[in-house]
Amino acid sequence: MKKAGMKKIRQKSSGAVAAKPKKEQASWGGRFSFPPSELMLKFGESVSFDSAIAKFDIAGSKAHAQMLAKCGIITKEEAGKISKGLDAILKRIQDGEFKWKTELEDVHMNIEQALTEIVPEAAKLHTARSRNDQVATDMRLFFKSACSDVISAIKKLMRALVDLADSNKGVYIPGYTHMQRAQPVSAAHHMLAWVEMLARDAERFEFVRDGANVCPLGSGAIAGTTLPIDRFETARLLGFVDEASSDPIVTGNSMDAVADRDTFMEFCFACSVLGIHLSRMCEDVIIWNTSEFAFVRLPDAFTTGSSLMPQKKNPDSFELMRGKSARLIGNLNTILALCKGLPLTYNRDLQEDKPAAFDSFGQVCICLEVFAQCACDMSFNRAKCAEAVADPLLLATDLADYFVMRGVPFREAHHMVGRLVALSEKKSTPINKLEDDDVFQVCPKAGKDWRDVFSLDRAFAMREKVGMPGPRQTKSQIRLWRDLLDS
Ligand code: ARG
Repeated sequence: MKKAGMKKIRQKSSGAVAAKPKKEQASWGGRFSFPPSELMLKFGESVSFDSAIAKFDIAGSKAHAQMLAKCGIITKEEAGKISKGLDAILKRIQDGEFKWKTELEDVHMNIEQALTEIVPEAAKLHTARSRNDQVATDMRLFFKSACSDVISAIKKLMRALVDLADSNKGVYIPGYTHMQRAQPVSAAHHMLAWVEMLARDAERFEFVRDGANVCPLGSGAIAGTTLPIDRFETARLLGFVDEASSDPIVTGNSMDAVADRDTFMEFCFACSVLGIHLSRMCEDVIIWNTSEFAFVRLPDAFTTGSSLMPQKKNPDSFELMRGKSARLIGNLNTILALCKGLPLTYNRDLQEDKPAAFDSFGQVCICLEVFAQCACDMSFNRAKCAEAVADPLLLATDLADYFVMRGVPFREAHHMVGRLVALSEKKSTPINKLEDDDVFQVCPKAGKDWRDVFSLDRAFAMREKVGMPGPRQTKSQIRLWRDLLDS
């Protein structure tokens, strides 16, 4: 079989490599006779996504220049000019006037080149620094800031859910295990369960932020530098300091510092767990919103119609959030797979770490915002909830507990109630409407008051131990969360 097609492709790609020299690559072009091919530039550039960390890159460069001046490696005037130039560039970027060039590969070289054009002294900026420790530093600054943003967004959602819990304290609903009616809970208790999940997420992001708080700058490409730099000074200037003591924190091994991507993994893991939590919460809402349940009404602004079926009001925002969790898990997998089997230290593969991390950050932020707005505008259908929670079988366990209090071992009590459930099914009579004699026959220790068990008020009033859905517990939990979230 002829392979003409394959041959053609090969010729085309080798033709591109032999492109004529255009401009010398500014940062590392010295030892090359030819510039990279157009295809290689397109393939290797990262500025299309890493321009997102420009402000951290500029902060890192300013601190580095200041440290170089303090150590006498450049003059104070040079550092001053570099710093001013960097401020001007940041302004241009923020005003959308900066022209990013893909031929300059990444954010670092774009900024350095633009700076050198306005401040010739900037040719000294990259002294004792490599893009390897530079990008590691930029990303640690990014993660510290991203974690703080996510924590604030989580807290906003928690506040909205505490409000929703507060305004639905008296709404009782069936709680489900195996998607079967289990025991009565309150809508507030359910909302507060979500709040607990989110609180763990916030803590997880605090942990990630703590891990990110170590300065790799000064590690150079792999083995540091011969120049007399002060790593603690840069760390201090960039805020890589211990919160309690204000002591600067720096990485302990230059090879690990440029190869390490643990914070990426941890951040994407925290985003995945948060995504999974949101997805489970969304699934609750989606089920409650079905005509079969109809426990909740969702805001028009976050639901959509069908192009075909005029009656439809679909919970798309919640479905999208459920879907986003898959994307977040995918991003975590990207980072894990990227690092697996990668030899120390820096390898260009690692450039692929950023899109996943940026995407996870962007997606969790918008999901949290959407859920918070939905929570503000969603309401419980009290009549439907009351109808569902009136099922007396939800209190079958309470009847077993009642027998236990009258001296029946729990295993026997459980069996007795099981028999009464079967009897009520056989007689097509609700369990609380059985004859006294039916009950006394099954459980001779039962008293005349056995039917009192089937009161929701009693059921909730008897659940006032910590962590339970009793009304006083719920109130104090709401107060506790309000205090914590306002502090
Ligand atoms: N754009 C690169 C990245 O994100 C920066 C580091 C480049 N280092 C290098 N040795 N080529 O990974």
